[in-house]
Amino acid sequence: MTTVVVEKDTKVNQETKRILKRFARKRDNLIPILQKVQGRLGYLPREAMLEIANYLDVPEMDVYSVVTFYNQFRLNPPGRHSIRVCLGTACHMKGGYITLDAWKRRLGIGPGETTADQEFDLGTVACVGCCTMAPVTVVDGKPEAKVEPTRVDGLLLSFGHESQKELKKNHANS
Ligand code: FES
Repeated sequence: MTTVVVEKDTKVNQETKRILKRFARKRDNLIPILQKVQGRLGYLPREAMLEIANYLDVPEMDVYSVVTFYNQFRLNPPGRHSIRVCLGTACHMKGGYITLDAWKRRLGIGPGETTADQEFDLGTVACVGCCTMAPVTVVDGKPEAKVEPTRVDGLLLSFGHESQKELKKNHANS
């Protein structure tokens, strides 16, 4: 006797299918579909990418390649607070990458990732139009000026983040 396993649709599948209904089954619709699904779910879980690949009849790998190519797409759920380090020319010249390194160290994650406690997600942006404030980090949508490593510590402390303990420990050891 053959056993047929019927998988129940998860919330992700249901939401994705609802969005897919609005689009023709054309490969050209891949990016707009991904944008809509991410807009709804906050990120692009694997089940959603599979659903999209099936719908458009393209290999799952193609969907994954597009998602990882464009940094507008996220593979991880967003955190409660979003941290976006500007790496536009002015911010780059003023040490944007040093700022990014400071965020990476303090949060223990890289761009495109979310902390284990789901508090913060980290990413990068191109110029956000306030170059005189370089290096800029956009925190929860608000551009913060002159965010150098010491300011990273200050911003984190203002959130009362866990890394407060981490910071104290690091400072005690230095
Ligand atoms: S380059 Fe960062 S705000 Fe313009």
